[in-house]
Amino acid sequence: MTEVKRNTIRALIAEATPKIGRFEAGILLAHILDKPKEYLIAHDEEELSDQAVMTFDLYVSMRIDGMPVPYLTGRQEFFGRYFEVDSSVLIPRPDTEVLIEQALIVAPDRPLILDMGTGSGCIAVTLAKECPGARVTATDVSPEALEIASRNAASLGAEVEFRQGSWWETVGEQESFDIIVSNPPYIRSDDEHLPALQYEPQSALTDGGDGLSCLREITAHAMAHLRQGGWLLVEHGWDQGPEVAELFRAAGLAAVRTVRDYGGNDRVTMGRRA
Ligand SMILES: C[S@@+](CC[C@H](N)C(=O)[O-])C[C@H]1O[C@@H](n2cnc3c(N)ncnc32)[C@H](O)[C@@H]1O
Repeated sequence: MTEVKRNTIRALIAEATPKIGRFEAGILLAHILDKPKEYLIAHDEEELSDQAVMTFDLYVSMRIDGMPVPYLTGRQEFFGRYFEVDSSVLIPRPDTEVLIEQALIVAPDRPLILDMGTGSGCIAVTLAKECPGARVTATDVSPEALEIASRNAASLGAEVEFRQGSWWETVGEQESFDIIVSNPPYIRSDDEHLPALQYEPQSALTDGGDGLSCLREITAHAMAHLRQGGWLLVEHGWDQGPEVAELFRAAGLAAVRTVRDYGGNDRVTMGRRA
């Protein structure tokens, strides 16, 4: 009887597929081997070292446990670039790309941009790269997040000024911007989906209350820090659009509108200082 080798790429992927799916198994194994995914197909009979097999087994069991793939590989793609991530930052989501798209539509030439609650820096770095001549400031209350964000800015060649502190306390009284963006923690503390997100920093996900407190804080002071014609754009939950739009109008913002994400849900509300 011929012995079936367990340590070939083909066998490892086949064994992991019923547990975590072929796609994620491929991402994890390619990451461990430091090769592109195509390598796995072209070399599927290659026998791997005991070390590689043990690492793969460990990653598969962590993934089964619920650890998100980007925390295992240490990176996530956002708007066509890879961002370093670890468990101190939210994993950048495709929904947030809607915020970028809208900001790019309304940004003037050489804009002054403020990103509040920058996390991995995905919004600030992307806008710095996509808006020619932009001057971008990014803030977060978490020093650990700012460390990751600074590394992402450096490795992607983006010029961003980082500041640590809570919302408006990092912004000077006289400072104003063309574009203020934020994807703040907006999940209600009793949201049934929150437990499934246990590996991500809770302080990045929820305000510990009704989900609107950070959005209220950001919106309340935005007018004072927007230049004439400047825009505030925030990401929010699928069911928060009408309330956030109302906050915007109450704050005196004009041209308020809510934009849907690729899944058809309300996701980004924007308004202008007329
Ligand atoms: C939903 S995450 C967004 C991260 C990133 N901008 C993104 O879109 O992936 C919210 C971020 O807000 C930060 N944050 C939470 N409370 C804050 C506060 N009081 N002041 C400033 N940032 C805060 C968190 O540390 C976290 O990085």
